[in-house]
Amino acid sequence: MVDLSTEYLGITLRNPIVVGSSGLTNSLKQIKAFENAGAGAVVLKSIFEEEIYFEQEDIIREAEADGVNLDQFDYYDFHLKGQKLERYIELIKASKKAVDIPVIASINCVYSHEWRAFAGQIEAAGADALELNMFFLPSEFSRSAREQEATYFDIIDRILSTVSIPVALKISYYFSNLGPMIQRLSRTGVAGLVLFNRFFSPDIDIDTFKVKPSFVFSTPAELAVSLRWIAIMAQKVDCDLAASTGVHDGPALIKQLLAGAKAVQTVSSLYQKGPEHIGTMIDELKTWMQKHAFRSLTDFQGKMSQEAASNPAVYERVQFMRYFGGDKDVT
Ligand SMILES: Cc1cc2nc3c(=O)[nH]c(=O)nc-3n(C[C@H](O)[C@H](O)[C@H](O)COP(=O)(O)O)c2cc1C
Repeated sequence: MVDLSTEYLGITLRNPIVVGSSGLTNSLKQIKAFENAGAGAVVLKSIFEEEIYFEQEDIIREAEADGVNLDQFDYYDFHLKGQKLERYIELIKASKKAVDIPVIASINCVYSHEWRAFAGQIEAAGADALELNMFFLPSEFSRSAREQEATYFDIIDRILSTVSIPVALKISYYFSNLGPMIQRLSRTGVAGLVLFNRFFSPDIDIDTFKVKPSFVFSTPAELAVSLRWIAIMAQKVDCDLAASTGVHDGPALIKQLLAGAKAVQTVSSLYQKGPEHIGTMIDELKTWMQKHAFRSLTDFQGKMSQEAASNPAVYERVQFMRYFGGDKDVT
């Protein structure tokens, strides 16, 4: 028998497979299906601060048009009556009743004045942890990298002073100085960092001359970026690391654990293959552990991180210097 349990965000998961935030985790039925299929935890679809904000604006506009005196409402109480948030809170409560696996809520922080109230509501609803989905596309030319980065620290600070459940931060790799930035973020008091989110991207239709969505789902080849950075950062951070993007099968899961991930999120593979695919990944992990005589994840977690690897420099290599030049040995 092998022990697949792992500690992530101070919570014991029965195994390291976490269903990542997506439309898949937006309903109780699906969340139950993921528990039955063997998931270690689920991250709910993000509640988008922006959506709530705009909904709130609509409610205020309508109320004003109806001659309602808004002064009689406490701003946040009124705000939180927004239906989207109410539905979200109901989903957390219902999931906590229906499943035994940890339920991690997710909020998308955009405007730094809105999220605090959401976070408090989410904690009160019983979420086991909170994942902050934070990303500002670095295309605002009037905003410096320093200002952009400061927003992350500001929001984290305020969230951490609002809730006492563990907080994870899910980030992108669009930072000017990624390694040191990840390290600084890990020292803020967050319990975990999720490397990395994958975003909606535009594509161009060359016949209609319209912009259309690019590929929604990742491919297995996309594992490479997060694998490198989990390996580089595993022993340089003061919090847990979870891997995200490109995990489509058991071998990818094993690689991320070897690199140093405490938990591994998957989304595209479950959209494409259904919840039962979790069982296949677990079987692949178990078979591999038995083959290598590992009894628990701690026997091999981080064994191939940059610091533990026999050739740490390989994680720093970025140029295809010799590849296809007759010498294919890239290690
Ligand atoms: C349809 C879809 C919806 C998603 N919605 C969210 C979301 O609400 N919040 C979030 O943090 N990530 C969201 N993601 C990103 C995923 O959680 C994940 O980070 C990304 O898909 C990469 O993982 P994968 O390669 O396993 O798909 C979404 C992804 C997809 C495909």
